[in-house]
Amino acid sequence: MLDRPHLLLDCDPGIDDGFAIFCALRFGNLDAVTTVSGNVSIENTTRNTLWLLELFGSEVPVHRGADRPLRVAPVVADDIHGASGFGDRPVPVTTRQPEATSAAQAILEYSNGGGATIVATGPLTNIAHAIEADPTVVERIEHLYWMGGAASTGNVTTHAEFNAWCDPDAAAVVLESGMALTMFDLDLTRQVRMGQREIELLRAAGTEIGEIFADALDFYKREIDLGVIEHPMHDPCAVLGFLRPDHFTFRASNIVCSTTDGDERGRTVVGFDDENLPHYLAVTANDKEVIELILMAILDTDNNQ
Ligand code: RIB
Ligand code: CA
Repeated sequence: MLDRPHLLLDCDPGIDDGFAIFCALRFGNLDAVTTVSGNVSIENTTRNTLWLLELFGSEVPVHRGADRPLRVAPVVADDIHGASGFGDRPVPVTTRQPEATSAAQAILEYSNGGGATIVATGPLTNIAHAIEADPTVVERIEHLYWMGGAASTGNVTTHAEFNAWCDPDAAAVVLESGMALTMFDLDLTRQVRMGQREIELLRAAGTEIGEIFADALDFYKREIDLGVIEHPMHDPCAVLGFLRPDHFTFRASNIVCSTTDGDERGRTVVGFDDENLPHYLAVTANDKEVIELILMAILDTDNNQ
């Protein structure tokens, strides 16, 4: 395989997480996947991850992670992702099981040699547990790319995006840790929207995988029928922002996450004017090119990219 960049993916599949997993497999060297509760329960996000990897024909190790946030009560987004977490498709249980090592332990071991890259597309609970277990991990993770946050308008509350809102304390732990981080927030991911055109292209491939992802996008699209024309492909943006950064622009920033309960819960406030700008915010995406890469990842039209 081409010497593609290596990564660990922490995720909560979740329909857009499924697209992200395929992008990581197709364009990167995916070394491990860790799962977290978020869109659906930890049982379902872990089962969905194993099934998606099996669909791709991948034996990448999977490590089961947190079944609840650090402090607040667990929630799910099964209204968006379906009861199974992948639309209204029943997801089969694979013969392969997750590894014995937990997600947080796997993250610590993966970063042992330093220079590790992690992409996170769910709540940051596992990363926060790893930092709490061994704060030196912050220096050994070279960069964290996170789909989360909302510099302007949220998707759970006026201010808060789901991954930040689901576990605001974990987001605060990671953002305050000093870890090098790039955030792909809703203002970015809302630039990359898929809908009927992509559903038809996926179906036209005539493959089982194309059909599965077309069905999933069609289910995801159902939320679009509530007045939104297409659906943002949140999680693939974080994976492709690492693997294909030339399709994005970034700005140095300082990002904080509110851990107060009520209206401010999970609100991410992005500053650009401080002397101290430890984070990056992804600000623009070449949406057409990114969408074509996502389709390529599912349809395997050219896996020598
Ligand atoms: O707000 C969008 C994010 O929340 C995405 O990662 C989606 O999968 C859900 O986890
Ligand atoms: Ca997700």
